[in-house]
Amino acid sequence: MSSINIRVQVRALAVEDAAAIEQVVGFLMAGFAEHWPGRWPDLETARAEVRASYGADRISRVDVDEQGAVVGWIGGIAEPDSQGQGIGQALVADFEAQVRSRGGLTIWLGSDDVDGMTSLASVDLFPHVLDHLARIRNLRRHPFEFYQKLGYAIVGVLPDANGLGKPDIFLAKSVARRDQAPAVPASPTSAVQG
Ligand SMILES: CC(C)(COP(=O)(O)OP(=O)(O)OC[C@H]1O[C@@H](n2cnc3c(N)ncnc32)[C@H](O)[C@@H]1OP(=O)(O)O)[C@@H](O)C(=O)NCCC(=O)NCCS
Repeated sequence: MSSINIRVQVRALAVEDAAAIEQVVGFLMAGFAEHWPGRWPDLETARAEVRASYGADRISRVDVDEQGAVVGWIGGIAEPDSQGQGIGQALVADFEAQVRSRGGLTIWLGSDDVDGMTSLASVDLFPHVLDHLARIRNLRRHPFEFYQKLGYAIVGVLPDANGLGKPDIFLAKSVARRDQAPAVPASPTSAVQG
């Protein structure tokens, strides 16, 4: 497991924190541009995504570096120039603590593949969808493996969720079972290791 290479603090992203929000919007536009083109077609769409993360029943948290600059957001993005330094890992660990403190049992997330990053893309997954899932391979650093390293298990796939051959891959982790061993894929086939 990677160590945190830059000193970061995780804090809530407040609705009035316009500067931080604009930094997050910038990451969304830049960080998703290569593999998820069109995900945020313009700044207003990205702003709407960040605004949708507020509310009493929501958790919207950012990583902040020593200078106070935002370097990651729990919506699934680390500052593009700072990736691979433990920012994503710190955000996810903080999010898990937030969920656990609110009595949550399981975290569930979807991670799209719209750019042929895994063996589940650009093929017809029917009718043996689960066979394809059990044999998933990471071809171009799709983030499902990032989540696996943090203890998430692949629990499903929605074929063609984003168009033909563009599935959504689902992962989940128990935050209630503290004694659950992290980061060890438990698939009998071991094929989900990427
Ligand atoms: C995915 C993302 C959030 C990860 O954040 P990060 O700060 O770069 O990741 P970390 O440095 O905390 O990495 C933790 C571990 O995951 C691994 N990892 C990170 N991204 C990975 C990827 N895309 N594929 C495989 N492994 C990955 C790291 O190598 C590290 O492994 P190690 O413990 O063996 O050293 C970040 O790369 C990002 O913003 N990517 C672009 C947008 C994206 O894909 N978001 C996810 C949408 S579901």
